[in-house]
Amino acid sequence: MKVSQRAQAVPPSATIAVTSRAKEMKAQGKDVLGFAAGEPDFDTPDFIKEAAIQALKQGQTKYTPAAGTPALRKAIAEKLKKENNLDYTFEQIVANLGAKHSVYMAMQAVIDPGDEVLLPTPYWVSYPEMTQLAGGKPVILETTAQGGYKITPEQLKSAITDKTTLLVLNSPNNPGGFCYSPDELRALADVLVGTQVTVLSDEIYERLVYGQTKFLSFAAISQDAYNRTLTVNGLSKSFSMTGWRLGYTAGPLEVIKAMSRMQDHMTQNPVTFTQPAAIAALQDTTGAVETMRVEFEKRGRFMADKLNAIEGVHCIEPQGAFYCFPDVSAHYGRAIGGVTLTGSMDFAAALLEQALVAVVPGEPFGSPKNVRLSFACSMEQIEKGIARIQKWLT
Ligand SMILES: Cc1ncc(COP(=O)(O)O)c(C=O)c1O
Repeated sequence: MKVSQRAQAVPPSATIAVTSRAKEMKAQGKDVLGFAAGEPDFDTPDFIKEAAIQALKQGQTKYTPAAGTPALRKAIAEKLKKENNLDYTFEQIVANLGAKHSVYMAMQAVIDPGDEVLLPTPYWVSYPEMTQLAGGKPVILETTAQGGYKITPEQLKSAITDKTTLLVLNSPNNPGGFCYSPDELRALADVLVGTQVTVLSDEIYERLVYGQTKFLSFAAISQDAYNRTLTVNGLSKSFSMTGWRLGYTAGPLEVIKAMSRMQDHMTQNPVTFTQPAAIAALQDTTGAVETMRVEFEKRGRFMADKLNAIEGVHCIEPQGAFYCFPDVSAHYGRAIGGVTLTGSMDFAAALLEQALVAVVPGEPFGSPKNVRLSFACSMEQIEKGIARIQKWLT
């Protein structure tokens, strides 16, 4: 059967490729240690599950309004007011089937063919593919380890053309584990004043920040930033709800309405019994997120210290999310176990085959010098896995 050119142009996810190979090897009985997962290893808190069970028992199993129930959208608006200092009416919010879906729909709603979309490296793997699916042109903004993997105001200014439609910011960052400071974000917002650029601020890791790191929503910077921003967030990472599929977008009414119209024809509504569970999560008073955050913070510091103790491996201490993103390029050019490491793809493949450690290559994130290790796993696994990497490299 014919496959459309649009569909043919979409490459398989590099994250999935490593995870599948690791699973295959595990199924063969090999003791593979996985650091590729992009989801928390904690179970969804019980009070959230209970809310979904109650909803099912009450018969909440039918369609809801396409944008989500008013009750859910009001709970999201309250959360954004209380935690992010953002004023949105519930009509300015659309609930989607995961933040991935939110980003996809937001891009479909604002990008026209030929529009330029600014993507700072390292970027989340799906951004360039989603940009292209919307007919847009990814414009990659390179960053360096010395600059903390962040773009500068000057760099942003010189990248903007009359075709620039969107700047995608993701802080705390997957895969980089860094977070823009409030002042850094304000300096970027200043550059945008007077331009036509919309900002898509992907804040999915907002609750997972460490040390002195302060999170600020881009839209909360100023009225100008508020007017030009689509705020994307979801419950997958902070509440360990990856399988429940609930994300949301808040922004100017005309864009939210357009997204809701498209959603109506695409997926109808977010899963009905996930919606009351999401309300329970957003109104949590048990401190479930904080318990997970504290554990992630310990693991992230531990992993970064262990990685930095390996010669030729350089890693910034994670400020947010649950990833270490070490630069391993000092080892490129070496031959290990008969394989010459020419880049992050070889590095990850050889590490998996020879040392049974699964990491994700940095190349699909636009950072070929790096590999990504998730610390959504036990301390014991981190200790064992990094020891294997050290042994393999030395
Ligand atoms: C930066 C970023 N945005 C969005 C998502 C999507 O999350 P979900 O669709 O599970 O809500 C992810 C998941 O890995 C992510 O890392």
